[in-house]
Amino acid sequence: MKGLILSGGKGVRLRPLTNTRAKQLVPIANKPILFYCIEQLATAGITEVGIIIGETGDEIRTAVGDGSKWGVDISWIPQEAPLGLAHCVLVAKEFLGNDDFVMFLGDNMLELELSNMVHQFINDRNDHSLSCRVLLKKVENPSFFGVGVINDEGRVTQLIEKPLEPPSDLALVGVYFFTDAIHEAVLSITPSQRGELEITDAIQWLIDNERVVDHNILDGWWIDTGKKDPLLECNRLVLSTIIANIEPSVAIDEQTSISGAVQIGEKSVISNSIIEGPVVIGESVTISNSHIRPFTSIGDGVQVSDSILEDSVLLEGCVIDNAGLINASLVGSNSKVSGSADFADSNTLLLGDNSIVDLS
Ligand code: DAU
Repeated sequence: MKGLILSGGKGVRLRPLTNTRAKQLVPIANKPILFYCIEQLATAGITEVGIIIGETGDEIRTAVGDGSKWGVDISWIPQEAPLGLAHCVLVAKEFLGNDDFVMFLGDNMLELELSNMVHQFINDRNDHSLSCRVLLKKVENPSFFGVGVINDEGRVTQLIEKPLEPPSDLALVGVYFFTDAIHEAVLSITPSQRGELEITDAIQWLIDNERVVDHNILDGWWIDTGKKDPLLECNRLVLSTIIANIEPSVAIDEQTSISGAVQIGEKSVISNSIIEGPVVIGESVTISNSHIRPFTSIGDGVQVSDSILEDSVLLEGCVIDNAGLINASLVGSNSKVSGSADFADSNTLLLGDNSIVDLS
């Protein structure tokens, strides 16, 4: 079985952050979302991985490299424009051949035992002539997603993309299993009203043409990370699973106290501060006279002084100085925030890369 990760598109929803960054590279607990997808495929034993890339392709290729750190072979598949998820299958045909594959949306984060699903699909596709399996999860706002309808036998009978009046509350999660039957389907459909070749329409084509499409319900969490608050929620979920690890080259003075699960990368320097995990701190970070409260991720090279941080994600190279309490914030790389001595005020920020904010 092969893996196909979709990392094209423009990432418009997390603006301003994704004005300058592929949304699949936004970090959760200091690791890009896309890396979690690759890790999940590698852990499930899938070593041939194709990645669809669009206008942010160079940035993605640089971040991922050749895949050797996960033990996978990466094939890069350029898509000329974001023409839809089914269009991605079309452009990946040469890479996929006639093999079964799992398609993973590169901006989805989920808690999933992918290995179990891979084995189950390999068994069931032969026993039950299965041509596709989708993953569904009950959600409160199904109109934001593809929505599935299932019958008493667990077969999927209908799939609709972002319906105004959803026929169920089961949303399509961004992981799909296919046999080569999908190739005929993607060639047979036409673009939707939004001008995209929809994978939901391709799967509906399979259903309408007597192919078996079934489903699994996702028990774990799933977060579509295109917006700030779900992204912070995801950061909290991942941080709550980390194991403490402080690299030997980290310098911590005697006035600093560290508690809970805290990870600190090489060459960081912490002085006169309180760090309360779960917290991830990257490499070459400087923290002085500050309080880092739970559920904070601090990227490489960040400098924090005389400030309190809580439940926030700071990308690499930020400078936070005398900034009061920063809470529930997402701060783009190389941004500078300063000027609020009042710790009673809580500042919530969504800043793009290279922003400068004076809170005074
Ligand atoms: O997140 C789950 C939802 O993902 C499903 O419930 C929907 O049925 C499915 O259509 C999809 O909806 P979105 O509107 O959220 O998809 P988005 O445009 O965000 O694209 C998902 C990923 O695929 C993202 O990493 C970008 C990539 N992509 C997208 C398009 C349209 C491509 O690589 N090429 C494309 O042409």
